[in-house]
This record gives sequence, C-alpha cells and structure tokens, in this order.
Amino acid sequence: MMPAAARHKSSWEKLRGHHARLAQTPILHLFSAEAERGADFSLHCDGLFFDFSKTCVDQRAMNSLLELATGRGWEQRRAAMFAGQKINSSENRAVLHTALRIPEGAAVPDGCDEIHPTLSRMRKFSTDIREGRLRSASGDKFTDILNIGIGGSELGPALACGALRHCAAGPEAHFLSNIDAAQAASILPRLNPHTTLVIVTSKTFTTIETMTNARAVRRWMVETAGSQAPEIQFAAVSSNIPACAAFGINPDRVFGFGDYIGGRFSLWSPVGLVVMLALGSEAFHQMLAGAHAMDSHFNSAPERKNLPLLHALINVWHHQICGYPTRAILPYDHRLRRLPAYLQQLIMESNGKSVTHSGEELPQRSAAIIWGEPGTNGQHAFFQALHQGNRTVPCEFLIAASGDAPDLFNHHDLLIANCLAQSEALMSGQNPRGDLAAHRRCPGDRPSTTLIFPRLTPFVLGQLLALQEHSVFVEGSILDINSFDQWGVELGKRMAGRLLPLVAGEKPPGDINASTAQLLRNVHAARAAE
Ligand code: F6P
Repeated sequence: MMPAAARHKSSWEKLRGHHARLAQTPILHLFSAEAERGADFSLHCDGLFFDFSKTCVDQRAMNSLLELATGRGWEQRRAAMFAGQKINSSENRAVLHTALRIPEGAAVPDGCDEIHPTLSRMRKFSTDIREGRLRSASGDKFTDILNIGIGGSELGPALACGALRHCAAGPEAHFLSNIDAAQAASILPRLNPHTTLVIVTSKTFTTIETMTNARAVRRWMVETAGSQAPEIQFAAVSSNIPACAAFGINPDRVFGFGDYIGGRFSLWSPVGLVVMLALGSEAFHQMLAGAHAMDSHFNSAPERKNLPLLHALINVWHHQICGYPTRAILPYDHRLRRLPAYLQQLIMESNGKSVTHSGEELPQRSAAIIWGEPGTNGQHAFFQALHQGNRTVPCEFLIAASGDAPDLFNHHDLLIANCLAQSEALMSGQNPRGDLAAHRRCPGDRPSTTLIFPRLTPFVLGQLLALQEHSVFVEGSILDINSFDQWGVELGKRMAGRLLPLVAGEKPPGDINASTAQLLRNVHAARAAE
C-alpha cells in the first residue's frame, strides 16, 4: 500500500489533473453533461439550502476532493477537536468552542465544567439589567451597553447585535474597538453616563487598544457620573481574571472563560454577554442552539450530505486547486453587513499560515483573501469587475427566503431576484453582437455558491456561523495547518510598542529603516507646521 505522504501527494495531483481536464468546460456545459447536477451539487441541512452547482466541479473532481479530505484524516481531526485534545499544538491548547453550545444538562468535555454555571450567571445578570433590577449608580435603568473590545472580542458580538436587532428590544449596544480616538469621540457624546453599562471584553485583558479605551471610558464616566459609577457600571469578560481585578472590576461582574476558546471563536462564550443584554437571553440561547445543531450535523452527517465539509471542499477547489486568490462574501441581507469583516478574521486569522503543523513550509496556497459587501450595494460598485474583470472571484451568496419587514414585502422579492440574477449572470455571461459587442461581452463561467436560509433568526445565525467555523476547520485539516493560533499578529504589536516613544518624540529614531524614519520625520514636521 502507498505510504500516507505519497497518497496525499497523489490526491493533490489527481485534483490538478481534474482542473486541467475541466479547464475548457464551461460550468453551463456541466449541467448538460450531468442530468441531476442541480440535485447532486446541493443539499438541505436543518432548513438551510446550499447550492454549489454553479461551480466548475464535477462528480469525478468531487470524489477526489473527498478522497483528499479523508486522506488528511478530517474525521479523526474532528473527533480530536470535539473531545478536547490539544489540537492547537503551538499554544498547547484544546479547541472547545463547540462545548459552549452543548445544551444545559448534557455532559461537557473534561475541563469545561464552568461553562453552564457561567451561562446561568450571564442570564441572571442580563435579565436583572434588562428588567431594571440592577441599576446604575444614579439608580437609573440602563439604556445603553458599551462593549469595549477588538477582533474576536468585537466582530462576533457586533455582527450578532446588528443582525438580530429585529428580534428583541433591549438596551442599545455600541462597540468601541479602535485605538483611534475618533471612534471614542464619536460614541461617548451620544451616551448618557448615568444609564450606560460598560463591558470590557478581552480574552487576555492586555490588548493595548482595549485597555487604552477602557481607561479612557472610565475617566469619562468618573468625570460625568462620579467616582462611584465605574464600580457599578463596569463589567468584564476575560480569561485573565486577576487582570480584571487589578483593573478594579467588581468580581460579581466578571465573566470568565477558558483558554480553550480562541478569540475568533468566542462569540458563544461570555464574549456574547453584550448580545444577551441587547437581545435577551432567549435570543442568545437560540443562537447557541443553532450552532449546536450545526455541530451535531457536522459530527454525524454522511460526507456527501455534510454541509461544512462540502463548503470547505468547494473552497479548497477554488483557492488551492484553481488558484483563485480571493473570495467575495455577498450577503443579500443588510443585517449581515458585518459578516464579511467577521469572516475575514475567522478565515484569514485561522488559515492565513505558511507552515504545516510540524513547521514545514506549506506546499499549497493558504487561505483565500476574504472581502465583500451586502448585496445589492455591491452591484453598484465592484460587481462590474466580477462580471468583466480578467480575474475570477468565486462568490458566496447568502439570502433569506423571507424578509422581516411585512410592510415592504415587495422589497424582499426584488432582493431575491437580484441575488439569483447575479449568480445566473456570472455563470451564463452574454455574447452580444453589433455595436460595442466587445465592451458588452460578459465571459460568464464565473463560479458561485448560494446559501438560502428561511428567515434571519438567532437560531439561523448560529447555524450560519458554526457552518463557517467548521468549514475553516476542514480547510485547515486538509492543509495540515494549525487554524487556532495567530503568531503573525504579534510582530506588528511589538513594533508599535517600540515606535511609540519615537512618535511621541521621546527617543531619537536610532537605527530604524530609512523609509520608516522619513515617515516619522514627516509626521513630526506636519505637526510642527500646524
Ligand atoms: O490581534 C489578534 C487577537 O489576538 C485576536 O486573535 C483576538 O480576537 C484579538 O486580538 C483581541 O484579543 P483579546 O480578546 O485578548 O483582547
């Protein structure tokens, strides 16, 4: 029998062979060649419908993609993740965001005993705030929540609060993430310090942006609501409980989580406290239930019916085999407008790596560059390049079958018509005759997938995000990379620390690079000229 490494190499070669074989076959022709293509290249999963028939994958290529995933041991890796093995090898940590979604009363993996008691504390805290039992220092009911956090401590909660606002009424959520004072300066004047609850959300509680903003907001609160206010109006979410105490947060208002939860996978942890406060605990639990339903599906569905697996395989086909460098995320749902940003972190921070688990150079391309905008806005901006540019961008469309604005139901039909029209036009193209034919020609044959969900509910959002998490996991398994560390972000942070005294003029430039030195000189000159 062929050794595993050789088998693996030959799986990639086979796939390159399929790519060469299909290079001259337009996607449209695959529909004539494969009578059941629509049904064979789509699947239902707990109310979701995923269509990947508008891609240049045929049955033979799909068989080889499945063979590749099997050869890489995606099932064993999945079992290891769910069981809490330390698959984040470079940080020697387990990866257990799925444990956060296990229903209360059911068994959790070893070391996760705090999950459900913490969830109960979150529920009590948020219900007491929402119902006015816990009040501000001045005795007022809270009207606003300010979440201070960045990256995974902001993107997921901000996405969920924006996406699900239509589901529940509660205090309004605001998000402060950027070190740029312009953001704090635009948010704080709109907040009433007597009715605002502040949550400092940071897994490490050392992130410079978050801690700088937290100190600034505390000063603002002391100045505007009195020195007693932060004690009552600050809460914290973190894995670093001693640091929360050192910052002066009342321990009753500190919600911890284990180091087996990665920042970009932490929406389901106490990092989601702001979501619970803004939308209510029922909505948050529904989101967890949706994610758990996707976990169960991922764990048990046969491979040809396994949504995260097939989603990942299509991405591997596009990025590692066809070599398309980017992927556009196109939610035809205004409420999902932060989804591209959320997925940028989830996908690029997870799979934007150049070495395998064992530290060898990655022989394949790493994760795609993710970008996108809500449809239909994107149609009037960059879709021109999607249709006629000479680089292919696989598109991922997402749309709800029903909208949530009954008075404007005709808008939703227009939205769906536009979404379906785009995937159809990208695939079919047009070859007009006559004047300006060359300019009007759309080559077509541009691949896309479409995911339809019944309606945007907390449960569905949970499903959608867990789908993406598991798809990232499968892609990482196939590439044999550690999807759960992020060493690349450290260098820039360290350099910023070293440059700070130079920017402040406290230290001479020394031996920094000539380009950076001249940028600094220009900053100083421009400041001096003011
Ligand atoms: O910059 C990288 C990162 O570590 C992300 O992985 C993380 O989500 C973000 O910073 C915020 O980290 P923390 O929650 O520890 O403040």
